Amino acid sequence: MAILVTYASRHESTRGIAEGVAETLRRAGKEVRILPVEEVTDPTGHEAVVIGSAVYYGRWMKPATRFVQDHQSTLCQRPVWLFSSGPIDTQPKTDPTGIDELRQAVRAVDHRTFYGAMHRAALKLGERLVTKALKAPDGDYRDWADINAWAETIVRHLDADGASGADRADRSQSPADLGPSFDGRKP
Ligand SMILES: Cc1cc2nc3c(=O)[nH]c(=O)nc-3n(C[C@H](O)[C@H](O)[C@H](O)COP(=O)(O)O)c2cc1C
Repeated sequence: MAILVTYASRHESTRGIAEGVAETLRRAGKEVRILPVEEVTDPTGHEAVVIGSAVYYGRWMKPATRFVQDHQSTLCQRPVWLFSSGPIDTQPKTDPTGIDELRQAVRAVDHRTFYGAMHRAALKLGERLVTKALKAPDGDYRDWADINAWAETIVRHLDADGASGADRADRSQSPADLGPSFDGRKP
């Protein structure tokens, strides 16, 4: 079964991180499908799922949050990793608002925030004004060694599971054992 790597990206840098993760998984011999969240109709049929989102105004992009909400039940039944792409330059790696709820909802193995990229010329006018006011610097701050190292932890986790069957057994539980549901939604 393939690993699904899916992402929400407005200006392509998060897509690049997702591609980096996918490349590391492939190099380790894994079968990988990589798609934007909007194009995934059903994550069933994947051994594991990696979900990433760019961070805007302190939060994940809506399509990525919605993806987790809509597929909570399916996601709970397989190992899930989350990543965020946000801070620029020397900004601190602050986790986005709401990430703990998402982590708990799908019982994610891990969440990691990576440095992102911003090219002012590619931004919309409103975004340009905001980033100018915040004096946010232009540039590509993605740390490929950090991204690769994280993807390798996914490989190690899956290989250990494959050997023991532990995660599959842990997750084949009744719906009552799923992570907490979102407001007004049943998993
Ligand atoms: C208008 C605007 C708001 C942003 N807000 C945040 C933020 O609140 N926190 C953060 O860490 N990064 C923020 N960023 C930086 C982006 O998350 C970063 O550039 C990211 O890599 C963009 O991903 P994308 O190219 O996939 O859209 C912001 C960028 C812009 C243009």
